[in-house]
Amino acid sequence: MIILGLETSCDETSAAVVNDDYQIRSNIVCSQLDHARFGGVVPELASRAHVKAIVPTVVEALEAARVRLTDLDGIAVTRGPGLSGSLVVGLSAAKAMAVALRRPMVGVHHMEGHIFSILLEEEVAFPLLVLLVSGGHTELVRCPRMGSYQLLGRTRDDAAGEAFDKVAKILNLLPERGTVMGGRVISQLAETGRADAISFPRGMSGDDSLDFSFSGLKTAVFNHVRNLDAAELKRTIQDIAASFQEAVVDVLTKRTLQAMERTGIKSVAVAGGVAANKSLRQRLESQVAAAGGTFHCPSLALCTDNAAMIAAAGLFHLSEGRSSSLDLEVAPRLDL
Ligand code: KG4
Ligand code: ZN
Repeated sequence: MIILGLETSCDETSAAVVNDDYQIRSNIVCSQLDHARFGGVVPELASRAHVKAIVPTVVEALEAARVRLTDLDGIAVTRGPGLSGSLVVGLSAAKAMAVALRRPMVGVHHMEGHIFSILLEEEVAFPLLVLLVSGGHTELVRCPRMGSYQLLGRTRDDAAGEAFDKVAKILNLLPERGTVMGGRVISQLAETGRADAISFPRGMSGDDSLDFSFSGLKTAVFNHVRNLDAAELKRTIQDIAASFQEAVVDVLTKRTLQAMERTGIKSVAVAGGVAANKSLRQRLESQVAAAGGTFHCPSLALCTDNAAMIAAAGLFHLSEGRSSSLDLEVAPRLDL
């Protein structure tokens, strides 16, 4: 089977071709350039940029994979969650191709796509425990087998990636041009900072649920920065970034280990944009190993949004005989 995947849930237009055995033939990600200067993704700008980019991105993905449209066996597309005006561009393109080519189409949950980003590269044992950390989600998911998901815990307020993005804004680090990847900038700064310089709060640490909370941490950073003058901020900005990152990594790792202990699951993975964080990857790897588990994380290019992961999830559903009807609608809010 050769599957074309489309992903347009936020501010990247992506198209990819994936083969049987989850082999990636191409994975093109076209980032939109102008959101950072507005301090966040502007939905109306995002959907207009998707309209412009979707056809050239699909053409580029097909060319890079050396396949023709008629070689495709099916089309997979993100149906939610995400920005409705952005999702609708990908879904409409998928429907148009499904009709024109007379091929099946399947709508994929964006976070299921992130889980498949792990399966694209490695053999993974089930049951699998997945820490899903992105700009919109922070969840611990038990996965007894491919395609089956049980939510163990979730954030009660901000997602981990959202906290990174908001702190980048508080520290005035978002670039004039570029995507809103606050986490990337913070993690670079953090490399030369002291992680124990400031003791920021660890949300919900006394709670025995597997939920998360990051809004108190964000407020603590805001209050800390508000009391500094420009020179002090400049002098200590690396320490603030490193101490903030340390608080996030600490909470995410502790909850993952608690979930391992409670479920008895030894096969553990992290996925989503925040999984690109070096400190988080290293901490999880060492702590999961120390607890007798096996740890998996996607390569960096597959952590942030991309269509290969959507094609992979679509390949799984289509090969099991599940497709979507052509009246499928986008689902901006959708549970896994
Ligand atoms: O999965 P993703 O590309 O989009 C969503 O589904 O939301 O995740 C994007 C998020 C952003 O919040 C971004 O700041 C964060 O992932 N991120 C990182 C890093 N790279 C991207 N967070 C921490 N460290 C990084 N290196
Ligand atoms: Zn994502």
